[in-house]
Amino acid sequence: MFHIWLFSYILLFRYNKYISFSFFFLEIVPWLRVFRAENAVDFSQLTFDPGQKELIAGIEFLEWQCDEATKRACYSKGKSKEECQNYIRVLLVGGNHLFTCGTNAFTPICTNRTLSNLTEIHDQISGMARCPYSPQHNSTALLTSSGELYAATAMDFPGRDPAIYRSLGALPPLRTAQYNSKWLNEPNFVSSYDIGNFTYFFFRENAVEHDCGKTVFSRAARVCKNDIGGKFVLEDTWTTFMKARLNCSRPGEIPFYYNELQSTFFLPELDLIYGIFTTNVNSIAASAVCVFNLSAITQAFNGPFKYQENSRSAWLPYPNPNPNFQCGTMDQGLYANLTERNLQDAQKFFLMHEVVQPVTPIPYFMEDNSRFSHVVVDVVQGKDMLFHIIYLATGMSNILKTVSGCWFLKLSLGVQKR
Ligand SMILES: *[C@@H]1O[C@H](CO)[C@@H](O)[C@H](O)[C@H]1NC(C)=O
Ligand SMILES: *[C@@H]1O[C@H](CO)[C@@H](O)[C@H](O)[C@H]1NC(C)=O
Ligand SMILES: *[C@@H]1O[C@H](CO)[C@@H](O)[C@H](O)[C@H]1NC(C)=O
Ligand SMILES: *[C@@H]1O[C@H](CO)[C@@H](O)[C@H](O)[C@H]1NC(C)=O
Ligand SMILES: *[C@@H]1O[C@H](CO)[C@@H](O)[C@H](O)[C@H]1NC(C)=O
Ligand SMILES: *[C@@H]1O[C@H](CO)[C@@H](O)[C@H](O)[C@H]1NC(C)=O
Ligand SMILES: *[C@@H]1O[C@H](CO)[C@@H](O)[C@H](O)[C@H]1NC(C)=O
Repeated sequence: MFHIWLFSYILLFRYNKYISFSFFFLEIVPWLRVFRAENAVDFSQLTFDPGQKELIAGIEFLEWQCDEATKRACYSKGKSKEECQNYIRVLLVGGNHLFTCGTNAFTPICTNRTLSNLTEIHDQISGMARCPYSPQHNSTALLTSSGELYAATAMDFPGRDPAIYRSLGALPPLRTAQYNSKWLNEPNFVSSYDIGNFTYFFFRENAVEHDCGKTVFSRAARVCKNDIGGKFVLEDTWTTFMKARLNCSRPGEIPFYYNELQSTFFLPELDLIYGIFTTNVNSIAASAVCVFNLSAITQAFNGPFKYQENSRSAWLPYPNPNPNFQCGTMDQGLYANLTERNLQDAQKFFLMHEVVQPVTPIPYFMEDNSRFSHVVVDVVQGKDMLFHIIYLATGMSNILKTVSGCWFLKLSLGVQKR
């Protein structure tokens, strides 16, 4: 069981207090309320209801478990008892509603509830394309203020059809092109953010542009929130999807790459994205924290594309036909006037040639022999400047705290393991 550290994150968020550079665990003890639920096996989804100052943990395991028939159907498809449960994978607060989706024994479903009475279910809809079937699949989702749900998840039972999918709300449902490894290639989705006219997605995937051997690259991708899809070409599909590689590496004659994004944290006031990157599980363990600013990501999206004519030709840079790309406005903008050629472009050009470089060429933090899984950043006002306090967690029982600003401070924190 490792739920304590999740709680400590959330509590830090919530109280957002100035934290002195002393022993972390002692600092948070007064704020800790240990919470346990019998039979609950998974605490990966937590969200806040700021209005009622409540933490909602996605473990309505007893109230919202799958029925016996669904479980039996799951077993009959060869899944284990452990997998054939309801794992909450989407937990989003929008206004005074809580939108949740669970794997429901490989039959994903979503519910919409009012925050004031979580036992009462308003709507129950299919979780397909909103929530993964398997609890092992990594996914992310967000709700916009206008009520659209953006989910990046596997869409099918075996998990071979990944997509970034928009549904609900008033706009037409759209997805990334199906079974097209150039769009998404066995992705592990990490996070998503609603920023300005775009929704951004962060993930890692097999690098389609890398010819020699299987390599994973980390990506930032974005779509326009007002995209309404193509006509004939790219029907029901994003016309504004673009993705770029993120570089997190230790510089050197031959840079040492931390290729695999594990977790991100967005600081909207500063337009900075903190990311944890690790090496591949099959190689020596090492982790790093790299920070990207949004303008560097935007710059990559305004640059040239990478394009491969056919499967035997090389990937080559291709000038961006629309380097000052803006999301159109619905009734009189780009989309209403998309020509056949724009759509042809949108079908070919979505991988950026330029790699997004972090704010500093040397990662903010590096550590060998460890694999960090979560990052949270707290900005505190010091006497003369702002400090970014970075909390890093490994999947098991450690939280590390580092401070960026004019120096680095690293404390090893023994958070109790239960
Ligand atoms: C949940 O229900 C409320 C009230 O009916 C509705 O306004 C809201 O859009 C729903 N949310 C989702 C994500 O379906
Ligand atoms: C919450 O909803 C349930 C189911 O509709 C109902 O039985 C219960 O009385 C409600 N609780 C409150 C506090 O309104
Ligand atoms: C999901 O991500 C975790 C953490 O990186 C990884 O261990 C796991 O293998 C991923 N799941 C799949 C199906 O790849
Ligand atoms: C990544 O960053 C390192 C360090 O600055 C640099 O040497 C390397 O060329 C970069 N790689 C890519 C693919 O941009
Ligand atoms: C969003 O798009 C509209 C229309 O293209 C543009 O006028 C506006 O400046 C954009 N907003 C931001 C924050 O970029
Ligand atoms: C879109 O097309 C309409 C009709 O052809 C035209 O009146 C309008 O000016 C065009 N809008 C833009 C932004 O090009
Ligand atoms: C954003 O990062 C780039 C490097 O990727 C740097 O050149 C630029 O100055 C940064 N901008 C801000 C506002 O920090």
